[in-house]
Amino acid sequence: MVSVVAALALTITTVLVHPAGTPRSVAPRSGVAAHGLGARCPRFGPTLRMLARRADKTVGTAYRPEYGTADPCYRWVATREFGSLTPEIATFPNAIAARPGRFAFDAAERVFRVARARHLCCQLHALVWDPTEHPEWGIVPDWIRALPPERRHRLMVDLVSRTVRRFRGRVSHVTVVNEALDASGRVRPTTWNTTGDARYIADAFRAARRADPKAILLYNDYGAEGLGSKSDAVLRLARWLHRQRVRVRVDGRVRAVPILDGVGLQMHVGLGTDGPSRLDVRANIRRLAAAGLRVRFTEMDVRVPVAAGKVSARDLRRQRYRYRSLVAECLRARSCDGVTFWGFTDDHSWITEHPSSFSGLGGASILDERYRAKPAREGVVAAFRAGRSG
Ligand code: XIL
Repeated sequence: MVSVVAALALTITTVLVHPAGTPRSVAPRSGVAAHGLGARCPRFGPTLRMLARRADKTVGTAYRPEYGTADPCYRWVATREFGSLTPEIATFPNAIAARPGRFAFDAAERVFRVARARHLCCQLHALVWDPTEHPEWGIVPDWIRALPPERRHRLMVDLVSRTVRRFRGRVSHVTVVNEALDASGRVRPTTWNTTGDARYIADAFRAARRADPKAILLYNDYGAEGLGSKSDAVLRLARWLHRQRVRVRVDGRVRAVPILDGVGLQMHVGLGTDGPSRLDVRANIRRLAAAGLRVRFTEMDVRVPVAAGKVSARDLRRQRYRYRSLVAECLRARSCDGVTFWGFTDDHSWITEHPSSFSGLGGASILDERYRAKPAREGVVAAFRAGRSG
């Protein structure tokens, strides 16, 4: 059962997500004249943002301001099509705590500025994360790794508190801790794991809740979208965190609020059996909801085989089906509040940015590299139009 406080947080969040986000406000305000960009950049209607609102969900994308500087269509299309922006890399530990002694928020603020100018909402992403299989990504700076455990733990709590407090009132969701469990559901030994178990995760969430009583706080992971030992463990962890409360002031009254609201399902998937089945996703969302836990698809994309720079027409159709059937599972669940895509154009994608991890795969977004709608976008549109009956 969702607590009154969580329900209240949700109501407030909904207001945050749609503050005057009417279709009237879609014309860019600065830079190239509105009609200039509108004529130059592909547009399609209705936007996903409008469709999502009709279905009582929110839709967002990961965002990198530097791409918008190089190409104004990147920004124009993102802010027209989506209701929410997530800094793709700007709130990782290496962005916020690159050097000892100061936290830097300028990169994240750039994303928030874009969002604010267009009345969009934002999410904070992966504050506590150490992808140990990918040290080459440099997510945790060396100086943090070198700290003695007690100071590292204190730094983690500070980083979460300061970041969440700074953006309080401007964010709907925060994925506070990212990828803390391994494939079999054990708590990973990472730089942040100074307790040898899940207690450090609870400490991070407690700090986040104290810093923002209203944001939706999510534990986020991959490979836990459907059913299996990892998603069993995510459910157990999330339940344990959801039972823990801290007393915080909400709208002038002190209440005991759960330190976690739900689970972020990353939803980086491929075609066929590369990823969970829709029925397993449905069953997983149901059991999370039964435990009072909210869900969001936090990083969705659907990678496909690419040969000599081309994707076959058949795979484009399969991709469309995959997007449609999975997004439909969020749409049919009251506990799922929406979908964030991990980028929206094949021009910029973390899949092609890391070819060693995804050899022969790419083309994962809903728009092509020139921002034209792919069949995948039609699949997402169809899911939003069908709403709860999809
Ligand atoms: C990725 C970014 O998209 C890349 O630009 C960066 O080099 C590495 O991280 N799971 C997550 C995301 O939770 O934060 C990751 O984002 C993709 C996998």
